[in-house]
Amino acid sequence: MTTGNTKQELSGVSEVIDRRSFLRVASAAGMGLMLSPMVRGQGRSGSSNDLNVALLGSGEQGNILLQACLKIPGIRFKAVCDIWTEYNQKRAARLLKKYGHELNTYEDYREMLDKEQDLDVVLIATPDFWHAEHAVACLEAGLDVYCEKEMSNTLEGAQKMVKAAQRTGKLLQIGHQRRSNPRYIHTYERIIKEARILGQITTINGQWNRAVQPDRGWPEKYAMSQDRLQKYGFKSMAQYRDWRWYKGLGGGPIVDLGSHQIDIYSWFLGANPVSVMASGSSGYYDSKTHEWHDSVLALFRYETQEGTVQASYQTITTNSSEGYFEKFMGDEGSLLISEAAGRAGIYREATAPQWDKWVKMGILQAPAEEEVETQASEVVLDVRETLAPPQHDLPVVFTGLYHQPHLENFFATVRGKGTLNCPAEIGYETAVAVLKVNDAVEAARTLTYKPEEFHV
Ligand SMILES: NC(=O)c1ccc[n+]([C@@H]2O[C@H](COP(=O)([O-])OP(=O)(O)OC[C@H]3O[C@@H](n4cnc5c(N)ncnc54)[C@H](O)[C@@H]3O)[C@@H](O)[C@H]2O)c1
Repeated sequence: MTTGNTKQELSGVSEVIDRRSFLRVASAAGMGLMLSPMVRGQGRSGSSNDLNVALLGSGEQGNILLQACLKIPGIRFKAVCDIWTEYNQKRAARLLKKYGHELNTYEDYREMLDKEQDLDVVLIATPDFWHAEHAVACLEAGLDVYCEKEMSNTLEGAQKMVKAAQRTGKLLQIGHQRRSNPRYIHTYERIIKEARILGQITTINGQWNRAVQPDRGWPEKYAMSQDRLQKYGFKSMAQYRDWRWYKGLGGGPIVDLGSHQIDIYSWFLGANPVSVMASGSSGYYDSKTHEWHDSVLALFRYETQEGTVQASYQTITTNSSEGYFEKFMGDEGSLLISEAAGRAGIYREATAPQWDKWVKMGILQAPAEEEVETQASEVVLDVRETLAPPQHDLPVVFTGLYHQPHLENFFATVRGKGTLNCPAEIGYETAVAVLKVNDAVEAARTLTYKPEEFHV
């Protein structure tokens, strides 16, 4: 297993604060997005260290990356490329121009690469089945690339990307943004690796429960022509909008959502899975328009230096109860973590060594006084359960935009001031682990991974 997070590189722009301040700040600020006025005028008159950036794919996620970039100093957008010229492309270009970026717009990425001769980096947020072609072409053009997950919808595509990065020597960061999230980094570096608070990890469970959603739709007057749709691999506007549900274009919710979290399993364990079994069901959508299963349950097995770990993961389309999280259970404690900043908790088994030392060192945050009092007076309803001690907390809470630290890590590395937290090789390992879940559903039996499968 390659580890990409040995040293985090944050430019200091992202907000990292302790948990109690977070609760105050979050309620006062309403967690609203405030685009930094510092970006205005930064473009042409900025320092020579400014990076010339193109956005390839300005849909929902492209827009989120763009918003995060608007908070990062030294980023000058020069081009936006998107096939939906009359809607997504226009929206992104309008916003960037409002913030002082002078840019050109393109429908075809080849024309962009041809005409834009002073680009430094490209951010790719097109549908998964385009990633390989787009990333390889950009790397071959001498550009550093930030490409959204899933790295590719096929392993062949992902392999081409790894090889292109290695061949060209250019950077390829894959968009598993939790790898740069300060609280995930703290949890991995300090809690799991340094303090080993959980003891021997034996079990993981994680989930992304999501409510049933209507199809994405589109304003009829902005529909693309059939010719243009076909040119870019889509059969219809409906398929173009809901591409992630179609075989050959995306991987369904297990890939779309699960890849973020299954990536964390491997990262925290320092190992890749040895087998997976999985089952899928499609309860809500017409299988003609939603070819992938809407709910998938998977069970992975890992063999680590400390022993076997069983890891379950579910992505459920029904309601959003309990949202999304990852939970690691060891013989001395359990740790719950989520990208959602308000969700975390660390439980100490009563027989485990005291954690005062780790609290003093700032690795853990002790339970709040009032929590201890409430807990002590609680009635134990079932004598088979020991009274659970109050939960410790993560001392690091990140309240910024989720993707900002990962982009900052990428830009810092482009400037020679860091190492990528999720280089192509790590993105590939996660793609191998995740794409096999759909194969296991199809095969209806346990599938194994060979160690060499994780390397190109
Ligand atoms: N990291 C995360 O948290 C996260 C979250 C959501 C999506 N994503 C990823 O981001 C990517 C985009 O997802 P989305 O939800 O924004 O999809 P989307 O459909 O909203 O946007 C995709 C955009 O790409 C454009 N496009 C399609 N083919 C193109 C081509 N050949 N050339 C140029 N433009 C093209 C479309 O017109 C559209 O504007 C996917 O890979 C997805 O998995 C990542």
